[in-house]
Amino acid sequence: MRRKLAAGNWKMNGTSADLGQIEALAAAHSGAISEIMIAPPHTLLHRASEFTKTGPITLGAQDCHKRESGAHTGDISADMLLDAGASYVILGHSERRTEHDEHDEDVRGKARAALKAGLRVIICMGEELEEREADNTLDIIGGQLAGSIPDDISGETLVVAYEPIWAIGTGKVPTIAQISEVHDFIRARLAKRFGPQVARSIRLLYGGSVKPANAAEIFAVDNVDGALVGGASLTAQDFSPIIAALDAS
Ligand code: 13P
Repeated sequence: MRRKLAAGNWKMNGTSADLGQIEALAAAHSGAISEIMIAPPHTLLHRASEFTKTGPITLGAQDCHKRESGAHTGDISADMLLDAGASYVILGHSERRTEHDEHDEDVRGKARAALKAGLRVIICMGEELEEREADNTLDIIGGQLAGSIPDDISGETLVVAYEPIWAIGTGKVPTIAQISEVHDFIRARLAKRFGPQVARSIRLLYGGSVKPANAAEIFAVDNVDGALVGGASLTAQDFSPIIAALDAS
């Protein structure tokens, strides 16, 4: 069985004053059924690990470099993230693809480096509004799946996040039928490439304006194994009911 995953992506938010949110979440969900992951900015990873060594929360990072070390000013390697306390890394987020011109082959290279270092990867993909309106969503997702995911993955090490770009930070959410269609498609494509058994064990997250008010409905969808949450993961007050909804699903 796939263990549900509630993943919080803090993006470029959070200073040491916010570590209390992680501490509060850990205390509130000590008996969580779902796995909980928080990806704070790199600067907080090490200090956050104080609250995650024991307890329900695992830590993730938001990007890594594809090389192990070297002359790459300002970049961070997968080994460094592991050393700082991360066990996951989010890769290929649309904000990285857009703001840093990352393409599928970059994401695949980073994923290879992360897996080699012993991190699990959450690989993100999603369509633009124009692509959805032109009925190209499944083609776009199919291309990103084929291009971004390396060959040597397992159900343990890979999580796929479907994040329609037009739903991120906008308050707009696809219909349940649209989420269901894409998640079923991703599962089927993974089965084709990695075999049904591996595909069945890979967790598929939905991301894009997940809030306490819509979480339960989204978690009831087949092939949705959790969420990648941005804004609503920044405070324990908002993220907690989302975790509770996932536990109850
Ligand atoms: P929001 O939940 O703020 O829409 O962000 C989603 C996201 O991009 C998570 O990676």
